[in-house]
Amino acid sequence: MTTGRPVLTIRGLNVDYGTGPGAVHALRDIDLTLHRGEVLGLAGESGSGKSTLAYAVTRLLSPPGVITGGDVHYHPPQGDAAPVDLLTLTPQELRAFRWQELSIVFQGAMNSLNPVHTVHSQLTDVLKAHRPEMRQAERTGRAEELLNLVGISRDRLGAFPHQLSGGMRQRVMIAMALALEPEIVIMDEPTTALDVVMQRQILRKLVALREELGFSVVFITHDISLLIEFSDRIAIMYGGRIVEEAGAAEIYRDPRHPYSDGLLHSFPALHGPRRELTGIPGSPPHLTAMPTGCAFHPRCGKAFDPCAGHVPVLTAPDDAPERTVACWLHHSAPGDAADPAPVSVSGAGPEADPGAGARESAGDTSAARSG
Ligand SMILES: Nc1ncnc2c1ncn2[C@@H]1O[C@H](COP(=O)(O)OP(=O)(O)OP(=O)(O)O)[C@@H](O)[C@H]1O
Ligand code: SF4
Ligand SMILES: [Mg+2]
Repeated sequence: MTTGRPVLTIRGLNVDYGTGPGAVHALRDIDLTLHRGEVLGLAGESGSGKSTLAYAVTRLLSPPGVITGGDVHYHPPQGDAAPVDLLTLTPQELRAFRWQELSIVFQGAMNSLNPVHTVHSQLTDVLKAHRPEMRQAERTGRAEELLNLVGISRDRLGAFPHQLSGGMRQRVMIAMALALEPEIVIMDEPTTALDVVMQRQILRKLVALREELGFSVVFITHDISLLIEFSDRIAIMYGGRIVEEAGAAEIYRDPRHPYSDGLLHSFPALHGPRRELTGIPGSPPHLTAMPTGCAFHPRCGKAFDPCAGHVPVLTAPDDAPERTVACWLHHSAPGDAADPAPVSVSGAGPEADPGAGARESAGDTSAARSG
């Protein structure tokens, strides 16, 4: 399964929608590493920035979305090959990179199949564009193989999308994403529109394929119980930041961030002991009116003195170096010598937002990048 070697590293990624004083900060200081062969789950409520992260990493962000700082590197499987800086690839390089090394299944993808083309023509189109040397018969053979991989009979190759069930259409999209055997597959809510049984069937298939083909997956959903079952590690997002990252079993057994705990108690688990469902009071914050300090503090039952005035930094708690959490319950209080990096919001300006510094310094060396 996972080799422990990184395949994708994201450092200090910041994304805004819009520019100037009206800009809203959709992603702030995102640090994330995807290891080769692992399923990394990304969870968070609606509006937490999950899709923005997927779009930014794949350079599919369209205006007014702007990457204002940070780095995204792809690490090729050949150990001695230099990392590829995804944020500086030219459009031509990007075209070759997408599908071949990294593919994405979008939110609601099953509705993005072209209704007037057969599954055959849509699957072979990808091969035609990226493997022009393949003959037609080879392309058809590969399309059959791909359908087979996702558990659809090859005789459905001639079907139009409307002749397939929602689950089948979603699996066709997954087959398409795997067509060129990419190293990374990013899946943004790939099963949300499907019933629970179908969701799990597709995910089981995906995990089996990952074992067989060795790719890595970033799996995005708001349903943390799905992630607990199918991911190796989970990152939890809130208000455009990652607030906790740990192994799936650790998050389930011992969530450190009160928001992760709230998410876990918002969805019924299909396996394991029953948990009382309590939900999370209040609503996610608006990007235009982000609370000061820890953005979760207005909804947090454990908020205390430093929470409203200081942004907690995502770092490892003292007793668990292999996981990270951004919460004052697990770090020294601001002002302590051992404090990781207290960020005061008592005064206005960049100090109030640790991302601002990163954005400014990135702005010195690189123009804001979009799409
Ligand atoms: N084109 C846009 N212009 C302005 N703000 C945007 C735009 N697209 C997204 N946003 C804002 O960015 C934030 C993050 O949106 P995003 O779609 O990444 O959230 P998400 O976590 O994927 O939510 P969901 O679970 O609903 O898919 C939201 O507050 C959203 O309103
Ligand atoms: S930092 Fe404070 S408000 Fe934020 S999650 Fe932790 S305890 Fe709650
Ligand atoms: Mg989304």
